[in-house]
Amino acid sequence: MKVLGIESSCDETGIAVYDTESGQIWQRLYSQIEKHREYGGVVPELASRDHVVKAAPMLVDLLEEIGGTDVLDGIAYTRGPGLTGALMVGANLARGLAFALDKPLLGVHHMEGHLLAPMLSGDSPSLPFVALLVSGGHTLLVEVLELGSYRILGESLDDAVGEAFDKTAKLLGLPYPGGPELAALADSVQASSFKFPRPMTNRPGLDFSFSGLKTAALTIVRKNEPLDADLRADIAHAFQDAVVDTLRIKCMRALEQTGHRSLVIAGGVGANRHLRSELQQHLEEAGARLYFPALEYCTDNGAMIAFAGALRLLQGQTDQDVSDVKARWSLESLPAIAAMGV
Ligand code: KG4
Ligand code: ZN
Repeated sequence: MKVLGIESSCDETGIAVYDTESGQIWQRLYSQIEKHREYGGVVPELASRDHVVKAAPMLVDLLEEIGGTDVLDGIAYTRGPGLTGALMVGANLARGLAFALDKPLLGVHHMEGHLLAPMLSGDSPSLPFVALLVSGGHTLLVEVLELGSYRILGESLDDAVGEAFDKTAKLLGLPYPGGPELAALADSVQASSFKFPRPMTNRPGLDFSFSGLKTAALTIVRKNEPLDADLRADIAHAFQDAVVDTLRIKCMRALEQTGHRSLVIAGGVGANRHLRSELQQHLEEAGARLYFPALEYCTDNGAMIAFAGALRLLQGQTDQDVSDVKARWSLESLPAIAAMGV
């Protein structure tokens, strides 16, 4: 089965085709980052407009490569969560195409796309497992007992972890989106003289809070202004350490509480090298295994939507007549994917 996936929930336009038989992926990906940079964050109206300009030509280009629409067996798109206007662009493109071609259509949950992304490289965690979903909009610890059936174990009570990275990066004068820039700066030094708190780790539970770290960063920045390059790297290193420690502590706790032996990390912040290596080391010591997507499938892309859509379409799930998008959408409300088949 060849499934087209369209992603437009935020500032990436992703168009991809996934073949369930060969595992082959064809894709086009366009990032709007340059458009939003001067505003220091994603401007929803600009995002929608740019998706309108880019999505259809990218789709035509990809269809040319794969040999036209005849080879498609189904169409998947991101139905939510995300920016309403941005989501509507991808949703309407997918719906128009499905209607015109009379093909099965399904709206995919963006975070399910992230969660299943490690499987795009053929690396499937054995069920049950725990997933840490860390992106610009979400910080979730999820128990996956059955594919498609998710239980939220913990989430951020305030800022998402990617948001905390981006806001702290901004304080350090780094360009948007600052997460990867801050990470590179943090990795450029071996140690730091600063120490940030590890929020909510000294009490039971699996929820997170990251807004305090941003405030702690602001206090340190104010005290030490003007910042030279060494000082900025010092602060970035201490901040990243605190975030990674906090995530690691909660992940280990989630594995302990559930008794599961596999952890998936996914979402944009899952690209963080320090997070990956810390988790890898601690999981190995605990006899557990870490799964993560290839770097190119960590941040938003169409392939993860095509893949998650394919799993559900293979089970006969469609939502042909749906006409809304979901800016907010609970992972827990999704129906299970009966059997894997891929
Ligand atoms: O999943 P994603 O591409 O988009 C959302 O669905 O939000 O995640 C984007 C987020 C941004 O906050 C970005 O700064 C962060 O992921 N990010 C990183 C790294 N790469 C991307 N944060 C820390 N370290 C990284 N290497
Ligand atoms: Zn995302």
